[in-house]
Amino acid sequence: MTIEILQTGKLLASCEAALAERYTVHKLHEQADPKAWLAEHGARIRAHAGSGVQAELMDALPNLEIIASFGVGYDNIDTKTAKARNIRVTNTPDVLNDAVAELTIGLMISLARRIPQGDQFVRQGKWPNASFGLYSELTGKTLGILGLGRIGKEIAARAQAMKMRVVYHGRKRQPSEPHVFYDNLVDMARDSDWLVIIAPGGKGTERIVSREVLTALGAKGKLVNVARGTLVDEPAMLELLQNGGLGGAALDVFENEPQVPEAFLALDNVVLSPHQGSATHQTRDAMGALLVANLDAHFAGEPLISAVV
Ligand code: NAP
Ligand code: 8YV
Repeated sequence: MTIEILQTGKLLASCEAALAERYTVHKLHEQADPKAWLAEHGARIRAHAGSGVQAELMDALPNLEIIASFGVGYDNIDTKTAKARNIRVTNTPDVLNDAVAELTIGLMISLARRIPQGDQFVRQGKWPNASFGLYSELTGKTLGILGLGRIGKEIAARAQAMKMRVVYHGRKRQPSEPHVFYDNLVDMARDSDWLVIIAPGGKGTERIVSREVLTALGAKGKLVNVARGTLVDEPAMLELLQNGGLGGAALDVFENEPQVPEAFLALDNVVLSPHQGSATHQTRDAMGALLVANLDAHFAGEPLISAVV
């Protein structure tokens, strides 16, 4: 008898194919009446593959053993309830570090040099009649990283290659890191030209990048968020971008994504990206393979490769 697992949303094709080879996969998002389906079949489900699992779904899956999440961030999983019910939770760390760090540097250069606007300028035939203008560069600037973790360290390495000075903030100093540590985020923002956010979302970091932090970053400062929209006071950020209190922002994530407040669309000092940090074939395939490998390890009675609970 094969092991029955549940998806509640579409996954990468290569990941879905690998799951289907090994398990009997049920797709709740394709059921006409998901609630009725859960009531009838929920007790047979031993694993969830995907992301976004709350207590209500765990209630409907009384024999759930493991939640294998697609992504490193697990702020959309109720890990407290999972732990209390002895349900293991895995994520997909490390395999996406390079892709996210690459996008971060791409967003920074895009914002500093107005690359999206330059593209539009050429496409719209404006070049023969006007000059596009002069902008800023990364060289010689100070980059403050909020969250010098797995991805943050890859961003730091690339920023140093761009001849930037790197400083960081987290809950604790990392003695093995060569960069200056700030125990106060406002102080770091004040001393930085750029602030990159790459710490986890969730309750512990909600709106940690407050109006005070954004004001300290200031009129010449630039913010990059590749973490989660919840870390920033989004209304304050918007207001400061509009009135010149904050120099610019490059945003891959938003508080209520995929909904983006319309006012952002009118701003020239903003680069917008649709949560693309890990979105390369290479990286997404590796994330899918890690998700499957965690499930395989669990059902083979072996240690999990990347467990968070
Ligand atoms: P990680 O290795 O766990 O690093 C997280 C860092 O954040 C750590 O250095 C940690 O340092 C710091 N941190 C944690 N809580 C904090 C707090 N309350 N205040 C200040 N700093 C705090 O995680 P990662 O693998 O680099 O991933 C980071 C996040 O990036 C993920 O959780 C995810 O949300 C996001 N992400 C986004 C994309 C995208 O597509 N845009 C892709 C992948 C990941 P301390 O422990 O010293 O505080
Ligand atoms: C993905 C991410 O967008 O890993 C994360 O935490 O935010 C991204 O890699 C996501 O998990 C897949 O949709």
